[in-house]
Amino acid sequence: DRVLVLAGGLSPEHEVSVQSGRSVADALRRMGVEVQVADVDSTLLDRIADDPPQVVFPVLHGSAGEDGVIREVLELLGLPYVGARPEACRLAYSKPTAKALLADKGVRVPRGAALPKSAFHDLGAPALLSRLTGTLGLPLFVKPDHGGSAFGAAPVASEQELSAALVSCFAYSDCALVEEQVQGTELAVGVLDTGAGPVALPPVEIVPDGGVYDYAARYTAGRTEFFCPARLPEETLDRARRTALTAHRALGLRDLSRTDLIVGADGEITFLETNAAPGLTETSTFPMAAAAAGLDFAVVCRELAHQALL
Ligand code: DAL
Ligand code: MG
Repeated sequence: DRVLVLAGGLSPEHEVSVQSGRSVADALRRMGVEVQVADVDSTLLDRIADDPPQVVFPVLHGSAGEDGVIREVLELLGLPYVGARPEACRLAYSKPTAKALLADKGVRVPRGAALPKSAFHDLGAPALLSRLTGTLGLPLFVKPDHGGSAFGAAPVASEQELSAALVSCFAYSDCALVEEQVQGTELAVGVLDTGAGPVALPPVEIVPDGGVYDYAARYTAGRTEFFCPARLPEETLDRARRTALTAHRALGLRDLSRTDLIVGADGEITFLETNAAPGLTETSTFPMAAAAAGLDFAVVCRELAHQALL
């Protein structure tokens, strides 16, 4: 098979995607697959037309990759590809949309509000800030309504911090999600489907050394402790896996995804978000979970590429 791995891309997560793409390309090569790696730029379509691959493996995080746009183009070109269809990507990529869909399925989601930047101009920032802290309380968590790798996201302990967090957030999106900060154990739950239906991988418990799973904590080796198996009761982990499967199905995702959750002290699970293009870097949780399930990441990548052809 000739596989084209798309990596890099146009979002702030470019470098993460380069690392994820390298993992996938190396894995496929270990399996004897012929691999090319390409970035997204204005020459991509010509390059694909000159030398069409059999399968595309998009490993693009953030806009133009995870939002479904590149996959829309792959659909137009009639090229088989790994991962979710454009519509499912769009649903998962919008955190407020994904939350609403999961809440509809009876899954607990953080209380919060999705606020467009314009609301702060129209309604007056000071009044809105005090309303938010009054209604949602403190601490809060602010994040862009889309995107990943914690860009523009920050915990907020006071009204002053809320204002600063929103300014940073609006650098990444015109819409901010302001949510109650759910306390508990953070879990990442991969879902993988290599032909026999989606299966939830063992949940990975995430313990960042500074308490916040920010960009540095995600991608600097040693900055975060990961536990797989997670240090929670089996029954709780089963519910976490079921929640990840519910999200994968409700959003209509395909092949692979990763759902991020918080388990409260009461054992209740709160859905945070689902990633249609989960990180596959050396410090990412999806490959860790696959390994914990006894799966060889190289075999997984080859199977995903292979089934795109079926
Ligand atoms: N957005 C990053 C790549 C992740 O979810 O792993
Ligand atoms: Mg994410």
